[in-house]
Amino acid sequence: MNSLVEKIERLKKEKEAIILAHNYQLPEVQDIADFLGDSLGLSIKAAETSAKMIVFCGVYFMAETAKILSPDKTVLIPDKDAGCPMADMITASQLKKLRQNYPQAKILSYVNTPAEVKAESDFACTSANAVKMVNSALRDEEEIIFVPDKYLASYVTSQTGKKFILWEGYCPSHIKISAKDILNKKRIYPQAEVLIHPECREEAINLADKVLSTEGMCRYVKSSSGKEFIIGTEPEIIHRLKKEYPDKEFYPASEEAVCPGMKRINLEKVLWSLENEEYKIELPPEIIKKARLSIERMINCTD
Ligand code: 13P
Ligand code: SF4
Repeated sequence: MNSLVEKIERLKKEKEAIILAHNYQLPEVQDIADFLGDSLGLSIKAAETSAKMIVFCGVYFMAETAKILSPDKTVLIPDKDAGCPMADMITASQLKKLRQNYPQAKILSYVNTPAEVKAESDFACTSANAVKMVNSALRDEEEIIFVPDKYLASYVTSQTGKKFILWEGYCPSHIKISAKDILNKKRIYPQAEVLIHPECREEAINLADKVLSTEGMCRYVKSSSGKEFIIGTEPEIIHRLKKEYPDKEFYPASEEAVCPGMKRINLEKVLWSLENEEYKIELPPEIIKKARLSIERMINCTD
């Protein structure tokens, strides 16, 4: 074991900390995580852990969600600038303005939003349960505002028939995956199944075999008899897939779809985070209280 990892392990025990990491984290970070997952799985884990401290290796909105679910715990993010540009495409005041135009509408926010936006929302969802959420809790609603991802919204419409009042948000990494990229990879690897994230553009989604959250991709690979997969999401997930399924092959749909926010965290920063107990996620109690309801509805909507 290298000395950085040893120090992290020692401090983790001393401080009764748990390391949660998203599937897009650097391989070195994935390898030291106590739990690796998608937004939904990480939220559930943050809600149920008995650890005193959570070191969240992901982007800011994910660590905020952990804090909302475990307000009495210390929640740390190793780099306070690890942001998600999509989450920053909508603010609470913009959402309030939009709501004024549609006073009857329910608000469904993708989990990729700031805590203040969740506090103004009726429901939150992740890529893993957006379709289920609309088909269940929101089934009878006539007007639904869906923010901020217009591509996820359009995918959910294709699966549920529900039309939404939209926001012009998108993920700058996933929009880099084009139909041409998928067609190129399919030509090179004709046997491969195409798995794609619903943050991608419709033209790319239409060429995929399965549309899945990042955890959904890992689960699907396990259940499939296929040996080759084209992966239409942030390429770092392939580290986990190769490790868990060494007899299968994985090809990124596009090497360009890198998420810079996720790449800001490395082993040194995880160690400093534990040593100095930084950077603490702090949120006003009224935001925690208001945002918690929409997030609890989200984590209760699982298979
Ligand atoms: P998942 O919840 O599928 O891991 O997606 C999170 C995300 O930000 C994808 O870009
Ligand atoms: Fe945000 Fe896109 Fe990064 Fe996901 S991949 S965290 S949506 S910028």
